[in-house]
Amino acid sequence: MTGQPSAPRLTKVPQHVAVIMDGNGRWARERNMMRVQGHRAGVDSVREIVRTAGEVGVKYLTLYAFSVENWSRPKTEVSTLMKLLAKFLKDEVPELNRNNVRLQAIGRITDLPKAAQDQLHDSIEATSKNTGLTLILALSYSGRVEIIEAVQSIIREVKLGHLDTAQIDADVFKHHLYTRYYPDPDLLIRTSGEMRLSNFLLWQLSYTEIYVTSTLWPDFRREEFFRALEDYAKRQRRFGAVSS
Ligand code: FPP
Repeated sequence: MTGQPSAPRLTKVPQHVAVIMDGNGRWARERNMMRVQGHRAGVDSVREIVRTAGEVGVKYLTLYAFSVENWSRPKTEVSTLMKLLAKFLKDEVPELNRNNVRLQAIGRITDLPKAAQDQLHDSIEATSKNTGLTLILALSYSGRVEIIEAVQSIIREVKLGHLDTAQIDADVFKHHLYTRYYPDPDLLIRTSGEMRLSNFLLWQLSYTEIYVTSTLWPDFRREEFFRALEDYAKRQRRFGAVSS
């Protein structure tokens, strides 16, 4: 691609990258724009990061697109975000298919407006045969709700006699989470400088490497993503043990 920074040589590539896309509102305010314009610019970053992740060999990319807490934002902002989401899901299918990207979603999907839910199901179906990157959108997502739903699901299985309480361990628990089909993230990226998890993947991030940049999400593009990947490649992961 002309004019685009080429991918660096990386000694290791994270299999799963999770991203807290923060700072759309601040990006807009800095430009005297409406917040929704920040979200629109954020969609362009989403497109670029999805393409780049697939290119460098990341297998799973989870994007925190909308939290359960985000429903309490002003009505107009919520409805614009839902419309942007439905439009993104519709418009991006050809590009996702061109790049062999399979779309998935986690969260309380039935909370979404019907139009967004229908489009989401259509786009998941239309990309289901792709074998490259799996793009997972976290929508109406809450880490605490996910854990509570997992507990409820385990209790149901115990009551039905399908599971003995003595069998419940971390592996059984994982199989009741939305993310049961995916490995835990290796790298978490958070934009806009905030040092918090904001109720994102609370169980799954236990041993994840964290990369925080002050760059606002609409400015987080290919080059910034490469910087995060280069930083990750230098990390020594010990998972609570000592290095050899
Ligand atoms: C955080 O910025 C961002 C969000 C709550 C939404 C993220 C949504 C997008 C990037 C666009 C839609 C996504 C897809 C997948 C089509 P903020 O508004 O909290 O920023 P602020 O902290 O500066 O106010």
